[in-house]
Amino acid sequence: MDPDLYDDLAGQVALVTGATLGIGREIASGLADRGATVYAGARDRSDLAAEEWRPIELDVTDQEGIEAAIDRIREETGRLDVLVNNAGIGGPSDSLDEASVESIDATLETNLRGSVLLARAALPLLLEREGGRVVNVSSGMGALTEAMGGGSPAYRISKAGLNGLTVYLQGEYGDRGLVANAASPGWVSTDMGGTEAPRSPAEGADTPIWLARFAPGSPGGRFWRDREVIDW
Ligand SMILES: NC(=O)c1ccc[n+]([C@@H]2O[C@H](COP(=O)([O-])OP(=O)(O)OC[C@H]3O[C@@H](n4cnc5c(N)ncnc54)[C@H](OP(=O)(O)O)[C@@H]3O)[C@@H](O)[C@H]2O)c1
Repeated sequence: MDPDLYDDLAGQVALVTGATLGIGREIASGLADRGATVYAGARDRSDLAAEEWRPIELDVTDQEGIEAAIDRIREETGRLDVLVNNAGIGGPSDSLDEASVESIDATLETNLRGSVLLARAALPLLLEREGGRVVNVSSGMGALTEAMGGGSPAYRISKAGLNGLTVYLQGEYGDRGLVANAASPGWVSTDMGGTEAPRSPAEGADTPIWLARFAPGSPGGRFWRDREVIDW
């Protein structure tokens, strides 16, 4: 597939959650390099140093904080072109019968509920212009067509749900110009992925950045890895 891409994102506004480190920081940096005004989400804004970003306090488990962040973007820029739901936690690695309820709740709350609420809050701005994009940073561990097992139940279920959000958004709002896609970054060397992981954060960020550059009318409602469509 060879979609039309924006080479230059100047004049466009992006919000990236979980931009303090790892893949999110690379996504924020990549979008800023393309000229976008990037709101870089962090639970603690002091974790964000780069000057080319606008740090924004954003804990995705905090509904009021989510709405305040979107209000600030509306007041300061009047637009939002790209939402990247990147923030995530790994959650319990145990199998479901051994995982604590608290750790299951925290994982679903961060990875799934947070993305759903952020999309809900951002939709009015995203829909103001043709071609608003939502990029959900998912995982192959949430793919329904790959064998699930090997622990991390809440993480897998949260990412399967995030993929569901992607298809929902495209189905509900695609006719109004929204382009929603999910990306699997592969196994990436970050705090979450660990040092054994073969991919760099920049490699993991490549497909999410590419999806954020999709021009109006580009394919949506798909799951991507390495710029190719993969099975849900
Ligand atoms: N690494 C991999 O191999 C891999 C593979 C597949 C998918 N992914 C996905 O890629 C995304 C980024 O992962 P990563 O490997 O870059 O992880 P990471 O290095 O652990 O970074 C996670 C980011 O999420 C933020 N975050 C966590 N909870 C949050 C909350 N409640 N509100 C706002 N931000 C929160 C963290 O912020 P703080 O600094 O405040 O903690 C941090 O910026 C995740 O969605 C992950 O599931 C990663």
